[in-house]
Amino acid sequence: MCGIVGYVGNQDATPVIMGGLRLLEYRGYDSAGICTMDDGDVDIRRSAGKLVNLERLLKEHPLHGTIGIGHTRWATHGKPTVANAHPHKGGSVVVVHNGIIENYLLLKEDLANKGHDFTSETDSEVISHLIDEKLKTAESLESAVQQALRDLQGAYALCILSHKDDKTLIAAKSGSPMVIGIRGNEYFVASDMPAIIANTRKMVIMEDGEIAVFRNGGVKFTTTCGDEITKESRYIDWSPMKAEKNGYPNFMLKEIYEQPLAIRNVFAGRLREDEGDAFLEGLNLNDMQLNSFERLCIVACGTSWHAALVGKYLIEEHCRIPVDVDIASEFRYRDPLVSNKTLVIVISQSGETADTLAALREAKSKKAHIISICNVVDSSIPRESDGVIFTHAGLEIGVASTKAFTTQLVALYLLTIRLGRANGIIGLKKGQEMISALYELPALVEKTLKLDDQIEEIACEHLTSWDAIYLGRGISYAIALEGALKLKEISYIHADGYPSGEMKHGPIALIDREMPVFVLAPNDRHLVKVRSNMEEVITRGGNVVVLCSEGDLETGKRAKYTLLIPWAGEALSPVLFTVALQLLAYNIAILKGKDVDQPRNLAKSVTVE
Ligand code: G6P
Repeated sequence: MCGIVGYVGNQDATPVIMGGLRLLEYRGYDSAGICTMDDGDVDIRRSAGKLVNLERLLKEHPLHGTIGIGHTRWATHGKPTVANAHPHKGGSVVVVHNGIIENYLLLKEDLANKGHDFTSETDSEVISHLIDEKLKTAESLESAVQQALRDLQGAYALCILSHKDDKTLIAAKSGSPMVIGIRGNEYFVASDMPAIIANTRKMVIMEDGEIAVFRNGGVKFTTTCGDEITKESRYIDWSPMKAEKNGYPNFMLKEIYEQPLAIRNVFAGRLREDEGDAFLEGLNLNDMQLNSFERLCIVACGTSWHAALVGKYLIEEHCRIPVDVDIASEFRYRDPLVSNKTLVIVISQSGETADTLAALREAKSKKAHIISICNVVDSSIPRESDGVIFTHAGLEIGVASTKAFTTQLVALYLLTIRLGRANGIIGLKKGQEMISALYELPALVEKTLKLDDQIEEIACEHLTSWDAIYLGRGISYAIALEGALKLKEISYIHADGYPSGEMKHGPIALIDREMPVFVLAPNDRHLVKVRSNMEEVITRGGNVVVLCSEGDLETGKRAKYTLLIPWAGEALSPVLFTVALQLLAYNIAILKGKDVDQPRNLAKSVTVE
């Protein structure tokens, strides 16, 4: 998704900005640009495609100056062309923008009537012209920015320059993340901390409606009404993990293989064997408080939403608490029925997904208690939650989520133990058994990873498929959805996940010899039913690959391929089946020659609606 890096200080701004943008690359983008100011000269370089194109351009046409702004763009309004790349210039004003300006067409029309010429199809360009228009009457750039921001509807994180005030950099935020790093009288602005943390650990986190004006080696914070505000800086004590492939051909494979360790890290220090309980300090809720909720509601997007579905099965089954699961972009606009008697669990790897954050705020405004399950420390979602379970998966670079998902499943398992122990539905013995099963899990993940050669063989047979169906029942239905999503994301093969019992209500019409059907058939209480559903497919000539549990010599007999997955018990098997499906999608994508780390059109962290 779009990334912003700005700099003002005494160094050459270009390398600082380009270094920051490079650290945001993995999040997905399709064009990039940079602008610096040097003695009143404002110079812009932009290019379509990856940063390497911009680097090439900068080599041929270098930029100078100790103040500048840069951007990686993930196209929303307007194709990923040079003309649509940021920075955008309107008159004397240059901006980079993350977010979406919803009233841009109205503003554009009005500005065009006033003589402004537009050169892009973006909503963002409007902001530069709007500020430029305000500058005609405003007493300063700062005041023009304040006035312009009051006219904007939608979300923005902005960095602004103008040669009319050539010693000033302005940053502003509403709805999209923005942080400021301070090192003496140098200032680093970024949409994400990792872009600038190597320069400084002293950070100010901007809140919605705030503007930062950097001038003469200092910074002043105001509201959009111009009132000055005081902001405290914080020392960031975590270290960003280095994005290194450690000998793997790409980040996705590395992250798949990191799962045994990542899973250990989720439960490390959080298990109390003697009490059969999980210790989740970050929840900030005692047993009485935990028992005071009438229902739970889990909200998330994408892969995290699949984790939410697994969470529903786990919590309802083991704690007997009603759980609703919602896609964040639906929840936020539905006037959801939540109250102070609802515990809302927000799941997000990045902690910055715009819809998930908005859903959190919606639930909060209705007095719900919010806990988040999140990977990225210091991101917006855990910051705005009442409690948090960090997943400690480490940096995930591959756009298609792997270890972040399986660690979310383990965090939900821990939460299930905690909720069940708090309400007494999980007794001491059962709690202890659940803990023992969890201790076994990393070794079983390692064993599942050893199936890679077999999975590669299956992958080879499915390279020409256009579609695929994934079937699962009960908790495995959520994993069928996740398996299908992984395949879509990285191999561009259309795939759907279905509850296997639903097959005969429509999807069975798709079955022919060409259609691969991946059946998830763990040795749980649904096995007999899943076998019947599988038979219905085989009877119609379907091409079935079945994933069943080790020791099950029956289920796979009539399937084309069988994969035997270690058995971890019903509640933890989803983790192992997921690992096998990750490897399947990975092998298919690699054999088809796709870029698994940065699939087309996708972004790692979706900070716009
Ligand atoms: C994007 C990513 C997905 C991710 C989803 C939700 O679509 O490509 O991998 O599952 O956002 O992200 P979050 O950070 O909130 O889990």
